[in-house]
Amino acid sequence: MLLEGKVVLITGAARGIGRATAFILAQEGAAVGVVDVLPEVETTAREIEKSGRSSVAGIADISDPGQVHDAVQGIVSELGDINILVNNAGIVKNISSLTKMTHEAWEREISVNLSGAFNMIKEVIGPMIEKKWGRIINISSIGATGGLHHQVGYAASKAGLLGLTKTVTLEHARDGITCNVILPGLIGTELVHQMPEEIKEAALPLIPTRRIGQMEEVGHLVSFLASEKAGYINGSEIPVDGGMRLNVSTLGSRKEIREMRGPVSRKG
Ligand SMILES: NC(=O)c1ccc[n+]([C@@H]2O[C@H](COP(=O)([O-])OP(=O)(O)OC[C@H]3O[C@@H](n4cnc5c(N)ncnc54)[C@H](O)[C@@H]3O)[C@@H](O)[C@H]2O)c1
Repeated sequence: MLLEGKVVLITGAARGIGRATAFILAQEGAAVGVVDVLPEVETTAREIEKSGRSSVAGIADISDPGQVHDAVQGIVSELGDINILVNNAGIVKNISSLTKMTHEAWEREISVNLSGAFNMIKEVIGPMIEKKWGRIINISSIGATGGLHHQVGYAASKAGLLGLTKTVTLEHARDGITCNVILPGLIGTELVHQMPEEIKEAALPLIPTRRIGQMEEVGHLVSFLASEKAGYINGSEIPVDGGMRLNVSTLGSRKEIREMRGPVSRKG
């Protein structure tokens, strides 16, 4: 097992990638603190406990430093200091052009997706520095590097996570802490499975692997990056996307997509 004796805290673990990853981290031997704004996160903790591992839930909005403090203290008092932090919680608040996006939606996406990760790191990094060992894994998106049409706040917040990650590495690598960022492509969470079939089918030609990713395919990378074995991987951006990023940024792939979709109308 990769994580025997370690204490993990993962955010956004009530459902989706966070929940699936929490189970994998527990299977690898960790005690797992799970944080979410939704009360369903208690169910994640109870199910982990049924599998024989310790788990404690904290309900908090990660954009609020006070709520983060209280949730982390509740978990630490039961499981001990956090050795591994997984900043997974994230939201999409707006799918429309920049001109239509409200300031409120922008602020909310930045404060959950980016400031939430900062709040969590500030709260747990002290004991990591003292113990000269820590792992921080941030979950971004392939939209962080090339932008995302009609999701300017989301793309900007996810790009911000890249700068946050690399700066933590620069400041704390000598403290035995690694900080890496995972860039998922399209992953088959409950919400993605509920999307209309035509939207999922339109995405498939962009994915060289020609399938949507599984939540566990993100979770297994998280567990490796969290382990002792990954000690020399630091400040890295690692996509888990079946190659999808290549099709949104290379000329050759654009040609392939055009061929698969048929001719593009010059009028539209
Ligand atoms: N699913 C994908 O295809 C995909 C692709 C790229 C990146 N991601 C990223 O992966 C992460 C997980 O995504 P998912 O698809 O599992 O999403 P999801 O919506 O299924 O789960 C996100 C979880 O975060 C929680 N959350 C939201 N706001 C919160 C807040 N303020 N405080 C605490 N918890 C909060 C939600 O309650 C939810 O349980 C996100 O950061 C997302 O941006 C997902």
